[in-house]
Amino acid sequence: MTQERVAPAERVDGEIDVPGDKSISHRALILGALARGRTYIGNASPAADVLATAACLRACGVWVRDFPPARYALDGNGVGRFGAPGNVLDCANSGTSMRLLAGVLAGNDFEAILDGDDSLRRRPMLRVVAPLRAMGAEVDASPDGTAPLRVHGSQVLKGLTWRSPVASAQVKSAILLAALSGDGPSTVVEPLPTRDHTERMLRMCGVNVDSDGAVVTVRPATLEPFGLRVPGDLSSAAFFLALAASRPGWRVRCPGVGLNPGRTGILSVLEAMGSHVMVDEGHPAGGVEPAGDVEVRGTRLHGVIISGALTVRCIDELPIIAVLASQAEGDTEIRDAGELRNKESDRIAMLETGLRLLGVSCESSAETLTIHGPVRLRAAHLDAGGDHRFAMAWAIAAALVPAGAGESVIEGADAAAVSYPGFFTDLATLLAS
Ligand code: S3P
Repeated sequence: MTQERVAPAERVDGEIDVPGDKSISHRALILGALARGRTYIGNASPAADVLATAACLRACGVWVRDFPPARYALDGNGVGRFGAPGNVLDCANSGTSMRLLAGVLAGNDFEAILDGDDSLRRRPMLRVVAPLRAMGAEVDASPDGTAPLRVHGSQVLKGLTWRSPVASAQVKSAILLAALSGDGPSTVVEPLPTRDHTERMLRMCGVNVDSDGAVVTVRPATLEPFGLRVPGDLSSAAFFLALAASRPGWRVRCPGVGLNPGRTGILSVLEAMGSHVMVDEGHPAGGVEPAGDVEVRGTRLHGVIISGALTVRCIDELPIIAVLASQAEGDTEIRDAGELRNKESDRIAMLETGLRLLGVSCESSAETLTIHGPVRLRAAHLDAGGDHRFAMAWAIAAALVPAGAGESVIEGADAAAVSYPGFFTDLATLLAS
């Protein structure tokens, strides 16, 4: 574990080119592996999570060649044509790797074990086990419903309609990927629409996907290989955009980031809090994923209520939104956010502990977090708790401590590499510019 010290920011005005989107990079590798022929991926995410997906695909006999820092070429085996791995497939910290690969493996006739680190072993997996079993795959989790997962799939699964009790793009994607091996169409119905990267990228591969927000249908299909330049990761940009939003006169621009409507909740929240958000939309990546330049200018902020579909659209950004809420006039209430307790850490509990150390008053219930602003933050000794989003959210909180009030320490800052290995270097560059 490494420690980082972060001093208060004096002024923020700059541009940050964030690395490629993690969610899209996972899917690009997986869909490339399911296609038949050569796929090229550019500007892929350097996230440790994405490296885990690439390693698992290689272990299943897929030829995946990386050209660091961000390009891949792969020769896909085709749907149902993976090879049995000789060892346990290590998904490390990555829920996306584990849940999406469980869906892919459900369509392959061999046994594989998916496992991960202590954090991943605590996360709920029955949400993918149940639908994949209903499709005819043999899938077992531990008695607690967690990893390791054993999957023994079949080249022909049963097409089905699945009503998911949770709004989860990982669950939806696992079912849609398994549905490629179905004996008929499969439909996923979600309680609220989630990011639709899998649907858009399946279309990019020539698959017919019907979608009406929260209801998605896929038929069994073969996939065409593709060339894709992954857009920048808006979830990584969110840390710098929130920093800019915190003070009148501060500004950050992030060019070429993904603008999938399932992910842009952070921009809606910043606008609702009073920030100036400018979006200049460009060409969609791969013809399917909206992308463009985003610039945020700081103003005086006010508290907001975040609930329902908006909570889902900014689920990964809620830690940094909660930090920013401490700088806003009035209360911010984050509702319908029980899923935060199932992420890489219990993010509601982590926020309560860390925000209090920074001098912020807040309270929570099972599904809700309320933050009372505005607060002059105090320098603190903060712990990332093995969760990448906190390594970064606490660093931004440290930069928001008033000038002269001292440095903060972030323990376990190396967790940032799970999604954004260069984060602390990019933050230092921004703060020095
Ligand atoms: C992701 C879906 C979300 C998100 C995660 C990435 C994806 O998880 O929090 O960081 O790429 O599909 P859930 O499906 O658990 O909501």
